[in-house]
Amino acid sequence: MKARIVTLPGDGIGPEVTAAAVAVLNAVAAHYEHAFAVEEHPIGGIAIDTTGEPLPATTLAACQSADAVLLGAVGGPKWSDPAAKVRPEQGLLALRAALGVYANLRPLSVHPALAALSPLKDEKLKDVDVLFVRELTGGAYFGTKTRSADAATDECRYTVAEIERVARRAFALARGRRKHVTSVDKANVLETSRLWRATVMRVAADYPDVTLEHQLVDSMAMLLLTQPARYDVVVTENLFGDILTDEAAALAGSLGLLPSASLGEGNCGLYEPIHGSAPDIAGQGLANPLGAILSAALLLRHSLGLEGEAQAVEAAVAQVVEHGPRTRDLGGTAGTDAVLQAVLTALEDHA
Ligand code: NAI
Ligand code: MG
Repeated sequence: MKARIVTLPGDGIGPEVTAAAVAVLNAVAAHYEHAFAVEEHPIGGIAIDTTGEPLPATTLAACQSADAVLLGAVGGPKWSDPAAKVRPEQGLLALRAALGVYANLRPLSVHPALAALSPLKDEKLKDVDVLFVRELTGGAYFGTKTRSADAATDECRYTVAEIERVARRAFALARGRRKHVTSVDKANVLETSRLWRATVMRVAADYPDVTLEHQLVDSMAMLLLTQPARYDVVVTENLFGDILTDEAAALAGSLGLLPSASLGEGNCGLYEPIHGSAPDIAGQGLANPLGAILSAALLLRHSLGLEGEAQAVEAAVAQVVEHGPRTRDLGGTAGTDAVLQAVLTALEDHA
């Protein structure tokens, strides 16, 4: 198949891990005889430096006409002056909103070979396989903000339509998995949560083969640590999802190997590792490229419909996680390139 993929390497280790993911996509294209046209554009700090804008119009236009977008990371100390008018993160928020990618997917499983890196005991981590679906373009992050000398407000607003579309996505994904959805809210206190719960229940009626349970967010924060293997698909609103997915990431032991996908109505999705620009190790060839490579696997699956190719990449990564080489964040001594080469070699066995 033919596909146009836009890459937005961004700042810090973003370019290093994105280059590795592109190398894997090129290997997939060569092996399966696909034609992927990969086109690079600036975003974040590098875009501010070169154009004055965190999301230049040319970058946005390229993303809007692409089949998929692969992002590295944005931000860093150079651009973190709180008084600055433009900040790298604005580029990412604006891109998510412009692409309408309202559902943020974060799969989480813990490879047995990495269990020692997790703060949880091995037996708790066995069989952990959760897919978080976080609402990404509504709620408190996008509501009206006010600020006076002695008070501030962040409006949290959700419409039925916003809740319904993300809930449908979660139920549809659960159908391809263990057919269980946990909806997380704070319906005992918040009006938006009561609307959330009522809407999710209504959507659930269209998916009678999927079981729905509700959890309050505070209790969910605890259950994720005590019984993580209990969960299949977890769907929640923007702010709760931001917090719970970072908590879940800590269970995996390292940020370096966790991917994400942000999806909207069309096929075009935004794919990025969950880690940031890691300024402490940027430019040294030490970054773990597996989060970016697994994000490319999600791109193959969700935007291009290439399930076999996605599984081949995931199997190659699992093999490298198990047998090494590993980067320092996973307890090894290897650099980015050695890990990439190992993935490319393993891919030949799995493709
Ligand atoms: P971070 O994720 O960049 O780094 C946290 C720690 O994890 C650091 O010690 C780093 O070296 C390590 N780490 C992260 N990714 C790694 C990888 N692939 N391989 C090996 N080690 C890795 O988070 P931090 O330090 O809070 O933020 C740094 C900058 O990144 C900030 O400017 C922040 O705003 C930005 N950021 C950007 C995100 C994005 O683009 N989506 C997300 C989170 C942070
Ligand atoms: Mg976060």
